[in-house]
Amino acid sequence: MNQRELAKALKVAVEAAGGAGALMRKNLREEKKANLVVQHDIKLELDVRCQQLIEKHLLKSFPEVSVLGEEGVSGDPNAQYRWVIDPIDGTVNFAYGIPHACVSIALQEFKGPSRLDAGYQSIVGVVYDPFCDEMWTAIRGKAALLNNKAIKVSKRAKLAEAVISLGFSKHHAGLSKMLPKFQDLAHKVRKIRVMGAAALDLVYVATGRYDGYLESGLRLWDIAAGGLILECAGGEFWNEPLPGDHYFQIAATNGLLRKKLTGTLK
Ligand code: IPD
Repeated sequence: MNQRELAKALKVAVEAAGGAGALMRKNLREEKKANLVVQHDIKLELDVRCQQLIEKHLLKSFPEVSVLGEEGVSGDPNAQYRWVIDPIDGTVNFAYGIPHACVSIALQEFKGPSRLDAGYQSIVGVVYDPFCDEMWTAIRGKAALLNNKAIKVSKRAKLAEAVISLGFSKHHAGLSKMLPKFQDLAHKVRKIRVMGAAALDLVYVATGRYDGYLESGLRLWDIAAGGLILECAGGEFWNEPLPGDHYFQIAATNGLLRKKLTGTLK
């Protein structure tokens, strides 16, 4: 895609995220219908409705681009270009009326060699927090923006001064991996935060609010947009595929804390 097409993709993704975000805002304090409830996760009827709304808007401008979303796939997910969508990231927060959740939309391009996730690169990223009305955007190679103003990662290089976010996956293996990290890091950093919306964790690192974020066992749609925004803000997005469909472990840092944090997951 050329720069003009990328700018159009960003505009359309921002509009789609704004539309889904408005629906989330309207429903935050309402009774919500759950399609599925398991021990550590909830899937809402609103997740599906938000994805449909986003897809409809994206497909109007880019009918040839397929969609790989938390709530389903349309078109060929291994095509040259694909949208990767988490319609509501932080669903459990949202379901409980906690206003810390967001919409995450990335446009990915196939770079090869393999058609696995590692063969794709995010080229456009949008994360929208409808409760704070904060819209993060990025196009690969350009500055990351928050509400149209450039952002940068923090300059903190000491763990003792760092605020680190930890994510606790909905799966047993991820939980078991992260719990000892909590115990270890809690004694070394200024504060640990566990907020429950991976895409917001990533853009908070990009904005310099957090200095790092670690999680094991999250999915591609949780990280595809936020990872790009972080890199465009000067941060480092270490990620490693895990067995299973679109599973990852990640260490998002301001770069200065890379060695101290990324090593803890390897
Ligand atoms: C979840 C959230 C949560 C993270 C989980 C994700 P969802 O995404 O981002 O913070 O810990 O690993 O799956 O299900 O709310 O879109």
